[in-house]
Amino acid sequence: MLLNISGDIFEAIRKARSITVLTGAGMSAESGVPTFREAQKGLWAQYDPQELATPQAFHRNAKLVWEWYEWRRNLISQASPNPGHKALKKLEEMKDIFSLVTQNVDNLHKLAGSNNIIELHGNIFRTKCFDNNHTVETWSTDENIPPQCPECGSPLRPDVVWFGESVPSQAFSMAVTNARQCEIFISIGTSSVIQPAASLPYFAQETGALLIEINTEQTPLSPIMDYQIREPAGKILPFILENAFN
Ligand code: APR
Repeated sequence: MLLNISGDIFEAIRKARSITVLTGAGMSAESGVPTFREAQKGLWAQYDPQELATPQAFHRNAKLVWEWYEWRRNLISQASPNPGHKALKKLEEMKDIFSLVTQNVDNLHKLAGSNNIIELHGNIFRTKCFDNNHTVETWSTDENIPPQCPECGSPLRPDVVWFGESVPSQAFSMAVTNARQCEIFISIGTSSVIQPAASLPYFAQETGALLIEINTEQTPLSPIMDYQIREPAGKILPFILENAFN
């Protein structure tokens, strides 16, 4: 049901022993990070992100994919956590058991100081080699593009989950456990269409958790939510924290 956020949400969040949160690109929208599906700006406008973030695209044109991710890393590195990210850090501090599952690769939850983060789709600031997943911290910029792994010579790529690739199995099974065990599950800023992340609210529902959706728009999962809050995350999360704990 659509609410103007009455007291029962504040009370439920105050009283809950365990909360699991799932975030998507809408969480970072107020930090100026374009959501994956927003039109690309300038040079990259001609490319569809879903055509670039795939192993096939990398095989076809590794240099183009590497340069696109360099562009995105540079764009995202200029963003900073918004009040919504900071409110989730505070919520973690107020709860005995708290888990933050994110589909975002922008590192903003970490920068906001959140600790218990499960990165379902990886992290754009982590780099690995294509063939053997060796994590690589530094590489010389004068060699060919993409740079090669110092250990095995395989081309480097961002440590993010591409379309057609599966999410890290350990990360997802931890996310399922935390969804099943929580008293409140809060889905924030995700279109709830990408699997397996979009299945997590169902695991929480199965074990009787209270389901809250914070999204500026309706999503396919809105009907199963106990509460739908149609507000921007960066505005409403601090408001909820303020009213639940002060
Ligand atoms: N506050 C809350 N919700 C917002 C805000 C905001 N300020 N701004 C946008 N939204 C909502 C939109 O209504 C939309 O439902 O955030 C959602 C963003 O949806 P997507 O762009 O589809 O992002 P996401 O759900 O994270 O995509 C999942 O798909 O593209 C792949 O791997 C990529 O991690 C991504 C995954």
